[in-house]
Amino acid sequence: MKPIQVGLLGVGTVGRGTFEVLRRNQEEIKRRAGRGIEITVVADLDTQRAKGLVGEAVKVVGNAKEVIANPDIDIVIELIGGYTVAKDLVLAAIEAGKHVVTANKALIAVHGTEIFAAAHKRGVMICFEAAVAGGIPIIKALREGLTANRIEWIAGIINGTTNYILSEMRDKGLAFDTALKAAQELGYAEADPTFDVEGVDAAHKATIMSAIAFGIPVQFNKAYVEGISKLQAQDIRYAEQLGYRIKLLGITKRVRHEAIAEKEAIELRVHPCLVPSKRLIANVEGAMNAVMIQADAVGTTLYYGKGAGSEPTASAVIADLVDVTRLMTADPLNRVPHLAFQPDSMSNLSILPMQDVHTSYYLRLVVADETGVLAKITGILAQTDISIDAVLQRPTAESKQETDLIILTHTCLEAHMNAAMTQIQALKSVLAPIVRIRKEDLS
Ligand code: HSE
Repeated sequence: MKPIQVGLLGVGTVGRGTFEVLRRNQEEIKRRAGRGIEITVVADLDTQRAKGLVGEAVKVVGNAKEVIANPDIDIVIELIGGYTVAKDLVLAAIEAGKHVVTANKALIAVHGTEIFAAAHKRGVMICFEAAVAGGIPIIKALREGLTANRIEWIAGIINGTTNYILSEMRDKGLAFDTALKAAQELGYAEADPTFDVEGVDAAHKATIMSAIAFGIPVQFNKAYVEGISKLQAQDIRYAEQLGYRIKLLGITKRVRHEAIAEKEAIELRVHPCLVPSKRLIANVEGAMNAVMIQADAVGTTLYYGKGAGSEPTASAVIADLVDVTRLMTADPLNRVPHLAFQPDSMSNLSILPMQDVHTSYYLRLVVADETGVLAKITGILAQTDISIDAVLQRPTAESKQETDLIILTHTCLEAHMNAAMTQIQALKSVLAPIVRIRKEDLS
């Protein structure tokens, strides 16, 4: 049978990896897919560079629309990234009846609803395994492997750059800025690292997993997003002494909520988190990714691997190419739905505002070391319905008159914690902005 012809938009690191792995493993891939898969046209703004990378046998064009208009192309791989140009091209490819494989998490998390509706209408597939956790087949696991289950929660280390920075801060006692510089020198972090360090990249990925896990539309705009740029090395150290590691987690969870008609809602949040050191996920170090899923039948499962990089991401792109190759002749109604649930069976469970979320907390206060301070602070916590789990007092490096007070709380309502923090921060004996980091037991 004639090989499937694929058009590639954007020849960067992942595009190069896709070429290399398709070439190296072409026989195995053909035996799995049932026919060969060949990238025959690529579009890149820098045509000279692209020609150097893909060789003579592949046609290189400067205008992506030429790839989309090419009648010989069945599948378009979008590796341009970003929300704007990529969105127009993906919608144009769908309109032209092409199946689309993309690694673009931002595009799916923000415009997924519109893109899936267009694909559904046109009877084509949109595949995005590479968009979440790179080489880990987490979309496949959630959408197909766990299809028997009612998923309860997902917690993932889904940004390698921030995990590398946190590992360096813990291992070497580095400040955030120094660890970020090391990540940039190693090529993990971009020159503008905002999306990684401020949690946006992880929130894109958590949004996509949330939609597939619970059959809700992608709702990036409702995600709570907090990054790691304000984390201090001393909190990583104190957490360690208390038996925890600090990780940037993408969390999505089904929770009971009596105040709303459906009695259930979904949490969708990305923020630094204390995780018990004894959990496997707490020991995921460096730029590695890991996703933990709690589901009713299977229990806890954990998926670990490289979340970025040329060939790990190419591995996910090619898995999607094989899926499309196998399924393109199937009746569109019998294919695996994009978000795991049939489009007419989506749920309308709402995303819980952060102030309605329950978690426990690590608090660090720099306080004047004088009589009655602890009593005032614990008094405010008690009035706002916050129960204390543990307290640790340590002298600060700066002065003998002040001390670090570390408080671990039991689970409480975020709105209550906000109210308590405002009152405690206003106390004269509280000498610096309070550090507040959420805590998850993941059990
Ligand atoms: N920048 C991401 C990370 C990889 O550091 O994990 C692509 O999503």
